[in-house]
Amino acid sequence: MKEEALQRAKTLDSSDPLAAFRTQFHFPQRDGKDCIYLCGNSLGLQPKTTQEFIDSELRQWREHGVEGHFTGEKPWVSYHKNSKASLAKIVGAGEHEVVAMNNLTTNLHLAMASFYQPKGKRSKILIERGAFPSDFYAVHSRIELSGGNPETDLIELEAADGSDYLSTNEIVAKIESLGDKLALVMFPGVQYYTGQFFDIKSIAEAAHKVGAYAGFDLAHAVGNVSLNLHNDDADFAVWCTYKYLNSGPGGVGGLFIHEKHGKNKSTPRLSGWWGHDSEARFKMNNQINPIPTVDGWQLSNVNILSHASHLASLQLFDEAGIENLREKSLKLTDLMEELILNSEALKNQIKIITPSNQHERGAQLSLYLMNHGKSVFQYLIDHGVILDWREPNVIRVAPVPLYNSFQDVVNFVSILEEAIRNEG
Ligand SMILES: Cc1ncc(COP(=O)(O)O)c(C=O)c1O
Repeated sequence: MKEEALQRAKTLDSSDPLAAFRTQFHFPQRDGKDCIYLCGNSLGLQPKTTQEFIDSELRQWREHGVEGHFTGEKPWVSYHKNSKASLAKIVGAGEHEVVAMNNLTTNLHLAMASFYQPKGKRSKILIERGAFPSDFYAVHSRIELSGGNPETDLIELEAADGSDYLSTNEIVAKIESLGDKLALVMFPGVQYYTGQFFDIKSIAEAAHKVGAYAGFDLAHAVGNVSLNLHNDDADFAVWCTYKYLNSGPGGVGGLFIHEKHGKNKSTPRLSGWWGHDSEARFKMNNQINPIPTVDGWQLSNVNILSHASHLASLQLFDEAGIENLREKSLKLTDLMEELILNSEALKNQIKIITPSNQHERGAQLSLYLMNHGKSVFQYLIDHGVILDWREPNVIRVAPVPLYNSFQDVVNFVSILEEAIRNEG
């Protein structure tokens, strides 16, 4: 398969309008060569401009000390505003609906403080079975903190008939059956394990019909798929920026609050000084006046170095365009799926547990090894492919349109074939 597929990949790469973005990233090296990096679903690569963005803030601090808050090209006091225009495009929202702050789980707790207010029998939170552990812990502890019982108030929806993923109909039916007992639906945009991309609009609509809120964890969706949070009427969404958004390990998180809740100053929330009217922030008069946008959910002043790193990558997203990236991403992932399904060596050894409909997935394919174990993953690592492993037997692999090529996909599948053949 390799020669023919490689020729096809070379043709696709040579006509790819986004191909040059690859040169703007640092690739981990193995034996003096770039690794085949297919792990942007876990930690995105470092843009070459990141250093300069961070250095510029270190310089500002060195040269101006505390005055850096109010001087220079990007004064720190309003630094969070620098990412808004790019983020708004990436998640399909208004600039007044998005802010970069804290980290994902912290933002989830802040959002639940506002959107999980159990009253009487309306006390349940619906999540998917197999949710990311941090999300599970967060909703579990939130229910406990509200005096509820996670045994009865935390509902985990499992796919019927042993399927690997949930259909939108199943999710909507569950929401309808929970009816006025449901307080909050908390779903992923893209599921971390299966790679399934959920229908945010239908989930939000169904939740609203029964009087519940709908919030989304976009860790694996942001910068990966096309999102329309405002028009889809999500109440809130949270994300991290170290995966597809390439902002570095532990990088600043993100929050979307729909404008209808932002401008309602009586939406309950936890407050801190950075969410308070910025004109009156330093009057120190203890009169809480939340900013009537998502900014009203900020607690603390901005982590400048982490945010600077975020801006370096967002500049690349602005240049490439999220819609163009998605278009290339669909082609990369489709090619990988096709090569695996048509490979004599792989077709009876690997089950792709990610939906085959390209509109129900992002970049990632989750490959379930039917007859082999972690040694296959180790072979890939030893042969210069970086990807990740999830228990019990899944290799997650994500070709990322900003820096992966079609040749990366072909080379990966070829090394995977070798790994499986090698096992005998
Ligand atoms: C789906 C999902 N949710 C939550 C988290 C936790 O993120 P953080 O450590 O930024 O709170 C992660 C981290 O990888 C994740 O993948």
